[in-house]
Amino acid sequence: MRFPEDVPVLADDVVTLRAHTEADIDPAYAMCQDPEMQRWTTIPVPYLREHAVGFLTEIIPNGWRDGGMWAWAIEYDGQYAGTVDLRDGEGGVGEVGFAVAPQVRGVGVMTRALKLVVRYAFDVLGWDRVIWRAFVGNWGSRRVAWKAGFRGLVVVPGGGKSRGVRHDEWVATIGKNDALEPSGTWWTVPEVEGGGIRLRALRATDAKRVVEACNDERTQFWLAGLPSPYQLSDAEVFIESRKENLASGEGVTWAITDDESDELIGCVSVFDMNHRIDKTLGEIGYWLHPDARGRGAMSAAVRLVIEHAFKPIEEGGFGRRRLVLMAAEGNSASSHVAEVNGFTHVSRERSAGPRRDGQYSDVHGFDLLAAERD
Ligand SMILES: CC(C)(COP(=O)(O)OP(=O)(O)OC[C@H]1O[C@@H](n2cnc3c(N)ncnc32)[C@H](O)[C@@H]1OP(=O)(O)O)[C@@H](O)C(=O)NCCC(=O)NCCS
Repeated sequence: MRFPEDVPVLADDVVTLRAHTEADIDPAYAMCQDPEMQRWTTIPVPYLREHAVGFLTEIIPNGWRDGGMWAWAIEYDGQYAGTVDLRDGEGGVGEVGFAVAPQVRGVGVMTRALKLVVRYAFDVLGWDRVIWRAFVGNWGSRRVAWKAGFRGLVVVPGGGKSRGVRHDEWVATIGKNDALEPSGTWWTVPEVEGGGIRLRALRATDAKRVVEACNDERTQFWLAGLPSPYQLSDAEVFIESRKENLASGEGVTWAITDDESDELIGCVSVFDMNHRIDKTLGEIGYWLHPDARGRGAMSAAVRLVIEHAFKPIEEGGFGRRRLVLMAAEGNSASSHVAEVNGFTHVSRERSAGPRRDGQYSDVHGFDLLAAERD
């Protein structure tokens, strides 16, 4: 192909993909000074103007001429907004790479640009599959890939390399027969309040309170799977891992907070929402900080959670049909939360709950159906 004459213009109502020009060198150079760019991509650091010159006037034109890389400038609002490229494609499979300038992030530019090049890969280049790769933790990139229909995400430990350092990598793909739409649910954490408490997303600053609550003797006794002692690093990992829970559709965890001080007084989750055979199920789990016990805070939190979990997905809820809650024999405070919220006692699982003293308790199962509440 000739560059730039043969570079096709791809466009939707908002973004235009076109051949790079020399006028893009300075904005591309500016974009590559962004710390996020340097953290998540393999560009040279420090990034010099000559790197941008080389990329835009040699590497990109040669890619089109030789057929090994197809790179477009993303234009948004009449300005250069970033670069997106397809690479390799041997055997019908190739990779996509992209970056958007910091000042235009979060308005959907990249999702649109990605869909345009994926369609080009399938319809014009005749590829069967496009691969997306990102270093683990690049949530912006992961969300863009998810929105454009990439699926089957796996983690490849040490799979990525940047400037001589190995990083764990996420890999997902889209096939030519897949819809360019999200596959699977990515939950968000809605803020809800009532009864003197507010449920909100966990924050890094909650870690100290999480440590206190999870080192409490009663919490440790009934939740024997918790690390013991529970360290600050455990809380940090727990808080960070909630993002994966949301993105994979597995569940949602809220911080239960005092609606005036905003201090964390506990945690409540709906999990198992990706249950193997029942995608309408949710299990409720919780713990309360010791200084918040005995005044009905968990009952109030679970009331809010039930409300949200049964609300249809179209109305911003989780669209659950059945909620379950498990409480170990002898943990009467936990059974009480189920009972005051209208759950029915349905089962007793023998010797199913490991305790910190090395023994196993029977576990009582409670459930609540959406149909019971209509
Ligand atoms: C990743 C990147 C390309 C995203 O571009 P963008 O134009 O902001 O993406 P979009 O606006 O299409 O975002 C789609 C969704 O992701 C969300 N998102 C974007 N950046 C995010 C971030 N850092 N964390 C969480 N969500 C993010 C957006 O809010 C939007 O969500 P919504 O659908 O709920 O509104 C951009 O941040 C970037 O260039 N980063 C540096 C380079 C890079 O990481 N490239 C990819 C290497 S694999």
